[in-house]
Formats: sequence, structure tokens, C-alpha cells
Amino acid sequence: MNSILVAFVTLLVFLGTQAHESDALTLKIKHHPFPFPSIPNKASASAPVTRVFSGLFYTHLYVGTPPVKVNLAVDTGSSPTWVQSAHCTDCFQVSLPNFDPNSSFTFQPMPSDHPLCHGTWLAPMGNLCKYGIEYLGNQVTTGDFGLDTFYFTTTSNDQVGQQQRQTQIHNVAFGCGIINRIPDFAGDAHHANPMSGILGLGRDDPTSFLLQLSDITLLKFSYCLPRRVGDEAPLFFGEEAELSGHESQIQTTPIVGPSDESYYLNMTGISLNGSILPIDPKLFISESDYGVAIDSGSQYSTLVDGVYQAVRKAMVSYFVDEWLVQPLNKTKSGMDLCYDITDIAAAAATTIGGGEGPGSQLFSVAPPMVFEFDGARLELKEETTFQLFDEFKEFCLMMGASKDFSGNIFGAFQQFNHRFVYDVGASKLSFAPERC
Ligand SMILES: *[C@@H]1O[C@H](CO)[C@@H](O)[C@H](O)[C@H]1NC(C)=O
Ligand SMILES: *[C@@H]1O[C@H](CO)[C@@H](O)[C@H](O)[C@H]1NC(C)=O
Ligand SMILES: *[C@@H]1O[C@H](CO)[C@@H](O)[C@H](O)[C@H]1NC(C)=O
Ligand SMILES: *[C@@H]1O[C@H](CO)[C@@H](O)[C@H](O)[C@H]1NC(C)=O
Repeated sequence: MNSILVAFVTLLVFLGTQAHESDALTLKIKHHPFPFPSIPNKASASAPVTRVFSGLFYTHLYVGTPPVKVNLAVDTGSSPTWVQSAHCTDCFQVSLPNFDPNSSFTFQPMPSDHPLCHGTWLAPMGNLCKYGIEYLGNQVTTGDFGLDTFYFTTTSNDQVGQQQRQTQIHNVAFGCGIINRIPDFAGDAHHANPMSGILGLGRDDPTSFLLQLSDITLLKFSYCLPRRVGDEAPLFFGEEAELSGHESQIQTTPIVGPSDESYYLNMTGISLNGSILPIDPKLFISESDYGVAIDSGSQYSTLVDGVYQAVRKAMVSYFVDEWLVQPLNKTKSGMDLCYDITDIAAAAATTIGGGEGPGSQLFSVAPPMVFEFDGARLELKEETTFQLFDEFKEFCLMMGASKDFSGNIFGAFQQFNHRFVYDVGASKLSFAPERC
């Protein structure tokens, strides 16, 4: 598994390697005034978010005329939105047809003098505007930026009836990926990859959905990530991005760092079974960062070594004291801290009198944990700390040490079953439990 957070690198090299423009597209360029997103009459939009077998989440939208369905990974760790183009030369397998800009009557290539065609990921090349992005894990995508109509729907029903096409927005800027090396979008023996691209919800580039469509989003969005593969829960933008009810359960913490950075949170501590772990608070802020980055596009949390080792040590010690079990010395699931499922079943049986087999959610052998933030606490239970890998007979802590990113990432697994509201204008993140 690889996280998807952007590695903040401009890929002009990659841009250079694919300079053979699609000449046909140049013909369609319109000149000033620049097309900008046209806004529907309400400041809100929503789309369902679904969990994929790989631990990533996607939402589906329709793009173009006639509308074509695209499933986009929901990524708060990056900003540009892109879909794999039907004209890709380096393509990943996807269960939906690729978007063909040439087949959409409303598609327009982004002209090189468009105001959005500069900055970290976009650059003019000839008459056109090209993009290049690198994500964690050496994942890259490059291609052409364009403008087209996006439709938000409220259900996952495949029929695009007028009613389901709730919100229609013209001239949304997005990338059509030509070279796409995204191992995170690989299928496996049992599953085809359903994802066609990425919906960038970051705030560090003006092409972000959030910023580009600020008249609709009001710089606010919310999501609830379901734990079960295939389940879905709505992503809201704008007025509907709210937490209602259970006022007492609402936790709020500032989003820290400059406004053109990732969403960093001021983490102040981690507790396990009621005790604060001995972690130097400085470790939550690594050299170049402002705190812990919250990222829906990373499957689970990755922590800098000092933080991760403290968590690991406390967890190992808890399992020894409470259940007399030692972790596996070698794991098959790819996670670092795992227990043999037989040991865990035996431990669980001693307290709850046996029960159902592996695969059920009955074990609650994991200690409660809390991620403490400035002004907020997120309570983690077994469903947000451990996962059972049936095929490997392993029960694993879904956290790890940072590898190709030097900071701490608060990933999706620890966010399950909470609604997170990003009020980017007010630099606040609020959350509350929700079964989603
Ligand atoms: C787009 O369509 C035109 C004519 O319909 C065709 O000549 C051109 O090759 C197509 N472009 C691409 C990139 O396939
Ligand atoms: C966990 O906390 C409970 C409640 O405070 C305590 O009874 C138990 O001994 C603790 N377990 C371990 C292994 O520290
Ligand atoms: C892991 O290795 C250590 C030291 O070699 C050994 O004592 C321990 O029993 C091993 N644990 C398991 C679960 O095999
Ligand atoms: C982080 O939170 C702590 C505890 O509330 C506070 O003392 C500190 O100033 C905060 N840091 C930033 C950068 O906001």
C-alpha cells in the first residue's frame, strides 16, 4: 500500500518527455475572455464516497457532453483534479471507460495563457497547458489541462437521469492524464481497479476543486469514510458541509500552517489505554512541516520514527500484559505490527467465551487510543486501529513508520466513521462520530 499525498515536486522533466502535442486539440482553443466555472443557483453540491478494496476512497462524477462517468479518488493531500485520458500512452487498468476529451462537445483545451496555467503543477507548452504531478511512492501523472462540464450526483445509480445530475458546473479545469504511473490504482487477483483519476481537495494550488469552485464550495467540504468496502456516504461541499446534532460530540481543531500548504493539524499527543505516551511534541512537527497532515488519500497513518516506535512499544507491551501474546516476527500483510490470528482468537476466547470465526468484527482485544489535537481528541477503537487480514491470518495495527515522506500523516483508516468538516476559510477542522 502506498500513500497518495503529493510530494511537492514539479515534473517539468516529465512534461518535457511528452512534448508531442495532440495537434487536433489546438483547433478547439477559444480566446479571451477565459471561460470560468459557471455557478448553479445554490452554494452546495454532494457526491457519494465509496471505499475500495485497496483502502482508498473514490467519489463518482460525470464529465463532458454527453456525460461520462468517472470515479475519482478523494484526496485531501493534493490539489489538482485529473482523469486518465483515452489517449493515454502509459495507462493503468480501470473498470470504467477512459474519458475521451475528443468525444465531448463541451471540452476545451486550456489555453496556455489561462490564469490557472502556472504554478506548481501546470506550465504552458506551445498553445496548451500541461501538467505534471508526483505523489508519494514515485507515482506520477502528466498530461493536458482542459475545461469541461462536471455533474455531481447524489446516488451511485448508474443511470444519469436529469434528477440525479443534481449540480451541473461548466468550465471546470482538470487534467487529462497521458502518462499515468499510479501503482495505487492497480487491481489485484480479486478486484479490478475502479478509479479513473483523482479529485484534489487540497488548498495548495488554485486548480483545486475547493478553490476553483469556491462560489459553490464556500471553501468548505465534509466527508465520512465508511469502513466497509463498497459502502458509501456523501461528500458535501458548501452550505451542506455541516455537523448537526450531537453538539457535545463535536471536536474542533485549527488547521495550521500557511494557507497554500497541506492541511496540517497541531497534534499534541497520543494516548493508549488511557496513558499519554512519552513522545516529544516536537516530533509531531517535522523540519519542513507545520504539524500532522490529514490525508484522505493515504490508506492509514504513517508516523515519524520516534512517534511510531513509541506507539509500537506501548502496543506490544499492552498485548503482552493483557493477552500474553507476542507480535509476529515476520508479516505477510505488509504491515509492521501484526499478531497471529490464532493467538488473538485464543486471547479473545478467554474473555468473551469464544465466538465467531475470523472475518467477523467481534474481537475487541485492542486498547483504546486517542489522537490528541489542539482543542480536540479523536477516540480510536479497534475498528480504526486494527485490521484482520484473513488471507494471511494476521491481525495488524494499521499504522506504520513514515517511509518516503518525512512528516506525519493522519490517514484514512484512523478517520473511519467520523464526519470531518474542513472549514478551510476559517482554518478549522471539526469532526464527530457518524456511522457511515
Ligand atoms: C480527435 O478527433 C479528430 C477528428 O475528429 C482526430 O483527427 C484526432 O486525431 C483526434 N485526436 C486524438 C488525440 O485522437
Ligand atoms: C488498561 O487500562 C485498564 C483501565 O484503566 C486497566 O485496568 C488495565 O490494567 C490496563 N491494561 C494494561 C495492559 O495496561
Ligand atoms: C520472535 O523472535 C524472538 C527472538 O528471536 C523470539 O523469542 C520470539 O519467540 C519470536 N516470536 C514469534 C511470535 O515467533
Ligand atoms: C499547538 O497546541 C498547543 C496546545 O494547545 C499550543 O500550546 C501550541 O501553541 C499550538 N501550536 C501551534 C503552532 O498552534
